[in-house]
Amino acid sequence: MRKVIFLSIIILFNLKAYAIPAHYSKLAMTGASKPALEIGNDISKKGGNVVDVTVAIGLAMSVTNPFNASLGGGGFALIKMDKAPVRALDFREVAPLKTHPKYYLENKERSSTDGAHAIGVPGFVAGLQAMHKLYGKLKWKTLVEPAIKLAEQGFAVSGEWVEKTQRTKEKFNEYGHKYFFKNKDASYKPAEVMKQPQLARALKLIQKDASSFYSGAIAKDIVNTVKNLGGVLSEEDFKNYKVRWHKPLNFNFKGYKLYSMPPPSSGGVVMVSALKLIEELKLSKLPARSYDEYHMLAEVLKASYRGRSELADPDFAKNPIEELLSDKYIKSLAKKISVKKVANFKPVKINVKESSETTHYNVMDTNGNAVSLTVTLNGSYGSGVVSKDFGISLNNEMDDFTTKPGEPNMFGLIQGQSNNVEPGKRPLSSMTPTLLLKDDKVKMTIGAPGGPRIISSVLQVIYRNLYRDLDMDQSIQALRVHHQFLPKTTYIDKHKASPELIKNLKARGHNVEESWMARVNAIRLDDKNWLEAAFDSRGEGHYAGH
Ligand code: GLY
Repeated sequence: MRKVIFLSIIILFNLKAYAIPAHYSKLAMTGASKPALEIGNDISKKGGNVVDVTVAIGLAMSVTNPFNASLGGGGFALIKMDKAPVRALDFREVAPLKTHPKYYLENKERSSTDGAHAIGVPGFVAGLQAMHKLYGKLKWKTLVEPAIKLAEQGFAVSGEWVEKTQRTKEKFNEYGHKYFFKNKDASYKPAEVMKQPQLARALKLIQKDASSFYSGAIAKDIVNTVKNLGGVLSEEDFKNYKVRWHKPLNFNFKGYKLYSMPPPSSGGVVMVSALKLIEELKLSKLPARSYDEYHMLAEVLKASYRGRSELADPDFAKNPIEELLSDKYIKSLAKKISVKKVANFKPVKINVKESSETTHYNVMDTNGNAVSLTVTLNGSYGSGVVSKDFGISLNNEMDDFTTKPGEPNMFGLIQGQSNNVEPGKRPLSSMTPTLLLKDDKVKMTIGAPGGPRIISSVLQVIYRNLYRDLDMDQSIQALRVHHQFLPKTTYIDKHKASPELIKNLKARGHNVEESWMARVNAIRLDDKNWLEAAFDSRGEGHYAGH
């Protein structure tokens, strides 16, 4: 009897130990869409490599996630394949040719958040095409096919899908109502099947030739829809669209080489700055999850976000990256940070709204290859404009520019002059797809949606994992703080922080607000050469693999 009890305890212990995070031995994926990850798994089993899987997931997500991964959006990816160096792919949206720095100031009717004037030229299809061209193993046609089937046969909508779609009801143009609601504007309910034959037709055109998105019927459909609403997006804008490959930012610490996104994302710069401060201030000497540690993390973030407003599209502005990451500047910031109380900055009254309109997914194998990809429409369903013929929801990425100097954007960010609107320019982003390598092999791939809160969340998960030895899942679920320099507010995880911690931070001078955090998902190769996959319980998420 004793033996049975003992064995049961061992079994229970093992089950508990290995249930979360999930483990895989060949390939792992994390992301927001279960059907898309299942498609990725099939593609891998058919012999597809990490990039093939990434492309198939992206196209499938354009079907399941029209609010944040539509063909009408854009994003960034960090890619490590075989012996090639890590590359950063930039398929961010671009300002239309007819826009200019005073575009939103000269006409108050023009909104950078809602409707036709908010839309940048989408880069999503060009991004997937570019990575496939460089690294893909399976035929493009094979990778598009599952997304076509998913659009034709339909998929069961999630609770998040229903909630986001209902929330956009007022903002949608007539085609949003036509394609994302049942008859007479009745909403789908969670788990009901939703079909998109119009999107399947667009995907079939893309399957024949991805470039057709930029020069054929799809570009025409989007341009005509936007023109009819008074916008300036043109066919010339689509023809001009090009992805860019960048050298990623990198930083050595704790035996790893971290690679992250350079401008036009602020993610890499802010994160490397924060990691340098963590090292400089020897943060990990403080007791883990102590009041002191949370206070110092908030101060490190505040100091690191300070330089964000200096950054912009590198083709249009000289970014002071060397200065912001120089030992001299980091030491000068560190000197001002004290464990006793907050450093003082002028407050700004801003209302930061919840935002999870971006999405991130990871694909990683045990051979050291990985893609970390973040894609966005900016706001949920972006501008609310949906194209007439193909039902493609279009971004509102123009709001990531400094549209009105001195005024906060929808993330509460006060942006710099160098990030003003200019034709052909890409707006500053916070998206932070990140890879960590050892011996030229990827050991961790990580990222998140959530605007400026992406950087602070990704940073803290890496910190918990590497400095505090938590596993991938514990690192993601752990309590986080966020500070973006302005407004002068320390955001703390809603429903996770104790009243004592909040009281303690307030006593040190923090203006504390309980709020949402970015939803991280990540994969790590552990000591047993198992892929450990985990996603954030703060929202919907999934893992898959084999
Ligand atoms: N649209 C959110 C970002 O790019 O940071």
